[in-house]
Amino acid sequence: MISIIGSGKVGTAIAFLCITNSLDDILFVNRTKSKAIGEALDISNAIPANSNVTIHGTDDFSKISGSNIVVITASTGTYLKSRTEMMDAQVKMIKEISNKIKKYCPSAIVLVVSNPLDVLTFIFQKETQFSRNKVIGIASSLDSSRFRYLLSEKFGIKQSQITDALVMGEHGDSMVPIFSRVKINGKNVSEMLNDSDKKTISTETQNYWRSLRLLKTRSEFGIAKNTFDVIRAIIDNDELVIPASIVLNGEYGEKDVALGIPVKINKNGIKEIIEIKLNEQENKLLKISAQTIRNYIKSL
Ligand code: 2OP
Repeated sequence: MISIIGSGKVGTAIAFLCITNSLDDILFVNRTKSKAIGEALDISNAIPANSNVTIHGTDDFSKISGSNIVVITASTGTYLKSRTEMMDAQVKMIKEISNKIKKYCPSAIVLVVSNPLDVLTFIFQKETQFSRNKVIGIASSLDSSRFRYLLSEKFGIKQSQITDALVMGEHGDSMVPIFSRVKINGKNVSEMLNDSDKKTISTETQNYWRSLRLLKTRSEFGIAKNTFDVIRAIIDNDELVIPASIVLNGEYGEKDVALGIPVKINKNGIKEIIEIKLNEQENKLLKISAQTIRNYIKSL
């Protein structure tokens, strides 16, 4: 069973993908019980006719017991200018949720989707003392999808012609698009862009969610697909290589922080942290990003 904490736009979009692909049974937990039950009733009509999966909703946390995977999408409100705007309330919330998950699901793999993503991933792991390989913050893969999209628009090409579009670091303004690795039809993109183009694409990647929020209230489908891919890799024991947030213990020269770096995921959660070679400027920006997150954590 997959438990999804929070049945708002993101939680329901993730559940819809899991259910229509018959991945596993789903349980929504929401503090408003009717919302959890209503969303489950709606999505239950999307269960394929030949499928055995089920979907239910509750406000009773004890029902998550037995879940292999718990996804945290809950939010205490709406932030407008920065993902850290409601940090104190979100941290209080994640501490409460972490105690309950620890009590009812001590061996689950936990996917953190709520913001501020890296801070909450760090706090969850510290509060529960779960293995850091089982606490995965999902966001850098979404940022990477946005980076790939913006590059495809810049060059007027299909996204499928672009490989290795990777964003590392904070799911926030200090995120680092890694130009040195991206390729278009096998050719390094770095040589096709000048510094000013790179700066523009970086800023657009960082601000993508803000531009989107001017047009619709919240992003939902991109994060849902990226989260679904991780759930599927865990369930099918596929080896999926993506960037995700994990508590670091010396990798990339960082500790006491969680941030987005490339990892390999399988049925046990994060099987391997992948340390890739970055250029000097990218290394410098990643350090700044790690320090930005660490400063948020220290300010709590
Ligand atoms: C996003 O990047 C707001 O974190 C959310 O779409």
